[in-house]
Amino acid sequence: MLTGAGVSAESGVPTFRGGGRTAVWKGMPFEVISSAGMVRSNLPEVWEWFDYRRGVLSTCRPNPAHETIARWQDRFDSFTLATQNIDGLHAAAGSREVLELHGNAWRARCLKCGGREELREKPSDVRPPVCVACGGQMRPDVVLFGEMLPERVWISAAERAARCDLCFVVGTSAIVYPAAGLPYAAAEAGAFLVEINPEPTPLSEACDATLRGAAGEILPLLDEEGA
Ligand code: OAD
Repeated sequence: MLTGAGVSAESGVPTFRGGGRTAVWKGMPFEVISSAGMVRSNLPEVWEWFDYRRGVLSTCRPNPAHETIARWQDRFDSFTLATQNIDGLHAAAGSREVLELHGNAWRARCLKCGGREELREKPSDVRPPVCVACGGQMRPDVVLFGEMLPERVWISAAERAARCDLCFVVGTSAIVYPAAGLPYAAAEAGAFLVEINPEPTPLSEACDATLRGAAGEILPLLDEEGA
């Protein structure tokens, strides 16, 4: 199962694309404000943007799509969930061992020693936060444009895709690589590919089934039917 922003849309988390919109903050496209270059040139502004996003996330709760996905981890002998989302809503719904390809907005990482800390446990008035281990400046522990994915997480996702029989691709525009390459790797391994998305994507043509609609409606229906 690969998920993207669309799986959290019904929880009130804004998507980046879709419906003809793209995300912009303070007049900057998110590719600019969410970039490796901004961490170097203006770390306080990156924090302001992620504090704003966490403010939005703090009001959001898992929806029936997250809940169905959490149930499926016990329904299949072997089940892997990889997400591009940084909102933590899969874990909040009860999913275990979520492969967070793009990190987590609720975590900070030290620029100096690489140490990680939960932001819920750090005072919110110190920006950038200071690392308790070494006193270094911290950044959001998320993958920004121009950065590599966390290596161990990526390797696990790629390995599981290569051994996959059935691959659900839910709520992603399927254009941001390398994550968007995972379903193709699964298909290459012989997996049956199912896309759940109200809109077509560049992946749609490669899919064996495309279910057009909202994840929070379609996934619970599949669950009911025992499909
Ligand atoms: P996007 O915002 O690009 O795409 C969201 C997708 O969800 C679109 O294809 C919508 O049609 C679909 N969608 C909207 N509502 C839905 C619903 N209720 N149910 C199912 N699908 C729905 O989000 P991602 O593909 O996740 O990366 O974006 C990938 C990456 O681009 C993000 O992780 C982020 C961004 O740059 C980084 O920040 C590194």
